[in-house]
Amino acid sequence: MGGTVVGIDVGTTKMCTLVGEVDNADQLRIVGVGVVPSRGLRKGVIVSVDEAAAAIAASIQKAERISGYKIENAYVGVAGSHIASLNTRGVVAIGRGDRPIMQEDVDRAMEAAQAVAVPHNRQIIHAIPRGFSLDDQEGVRNPIGLMGYRLEVEAHIVTGAITSLRNLASCVQNAGVGITAMVLQPLASAEAVLRPDEREMGVVLVDAGGGTIDVAIFIEGSIWHSLVLPVGGNHITNDIAIGLRIPFDLAEELKLQHGHALPEAVDPDEVVDIRSYGHGPGRVVAKRELATIIEARAEEMFEMILREIKRSGYDGLLPAGVVLTGGTARLAGLVDLGQRVLNLPVRVGAPTDIDGLVESIEGPAYSTSVGMLLWGIHHDSEPDRGRRPGRGGSGGRHDRFLGWLREFLPR
Ligand SMILES: Nc1ncnc2c1ncn2[C@@H]1O[C@H](COP(=O)(O)OP(=O)(O)OP(=O)(O)O)[C@@H](O)[C@H]1O
Ligand SMILES: [Mg+2]
Repeated sequence: MGGTVVGIDVGTTKMCTLVGEVDNADQLRIVGVGVVPSRGLRKGVIVSVDEAAAAIAASIQKAERISGYKIENAYVGVAGSHIASLNTRGVVAIGRGDRPIMQEDVDRAMEAAQAVAVPHNRQIIHAIPRGFSLDDQEGVRNPIGLMGYRLEVEAHIVTGAITSLRNLASCVQNAGVGITAMVLQPLASAEAVLRPDEREMGVVLVDAGGGTIDVAIFIEGSIWHSLVLPVGGNHITNDIAIGLRIPFDLAEELKLQHGHALPEAVDPDEVVDIRSYGHGPGRVVAKRELATIIEARAEEMFEMILREIKRSGYDGLLPAGVVLTGGTARLAGLVDLGQRVLNLPVRVGAPTDIDGLVESIEGPAYSTSVGMLLWGIHHDSEPDRGRRPGRGGSGGRHDRFLGWLREFLPR
């Protein structure tokens, strides 16, 4: 089924709106790109609605100009340290076991799984079925059409702080765009970079951006664990600025041009003359010293990730290792450092298999942006597919969320 799909990646360092056209074979073609520097966010959370709203609006307008579409609805990425996730179960009786399981039974089981105690200041963003048990038969992927007395679903539930979600929603709505659904950023990234065999085997998706590191663990094809850590590439840059006593912008430039996560791989005699950057105090910086600062912070990041993997209890179940993405994944030496600290295979993942305006959105920094469109294509029931962006209603499975949104947002 063809159609159009729009995603807005609200990042700490960039806002990226993408407009995609989908053909009948579900092949994605990017027809609109709007990337602008981010403002108003800290660690993935909106701290200034005015600034963030202006940046989001600018990104949307750019994508509209390039695509020629008027964007009315979009998928919106959400992250930040207010995100929490848990796994739950929901059980329903099917009756006398004399009829096949129907979608309605699955929906009832999912509802039961969501009847967990969510604090009044939090809202469910995703409720994703991980697997089913039918009577005593575990590991049922799709129970529809099978016979049984008792259906049990295992679900992964992601919640966020209502205030943070509301701020994000009003920034997007201020730009005149409705929200089809909010998507947890690492789930979007996973759509763009994980291979099906990795998801089956057991894999950790690590999206290392500017302000956050988003982690999602996939086993047996579905999501088992997700979390957002409040650190990212900006922290590396900060450490460089403090360690070398230089401005943040110069530290960022040095990191991008000369950064390395493994000091032992850097020639000890190589230096950068920071006068050539125009605003340095006129001295040289040893590349190895730069790498030493980067290594310390990057190592700490991987240690945090390792702790979270162990805490999840799934650390023995991840033979496919780690797929590293996000802008920070471009840092030289990071893969090797990650392998050393995590003791798992690590590879860098970036979006592949997309057509259209791909030059400006190449590389791991755009995994979430592209993944948001793929999420829309793969997970949505019926929303705007086959229509121009925005016109029309929202898919059934998001009605709960949108109903909630309507309660809070001024119209
Ligand atoms: N070649 C590179 N080497 C090192 N770091 C890089 C490189 N390219 C980009 N980065 C870093 O990647 C970060 C931005 O990544 P990304 O675009 O994924 O962030 P974001 O999506 O805006 O933020 P977040 O997802 O954390 O809210 C910045 O900290 C930037 O310095
Ligand atoms: Mg990001």
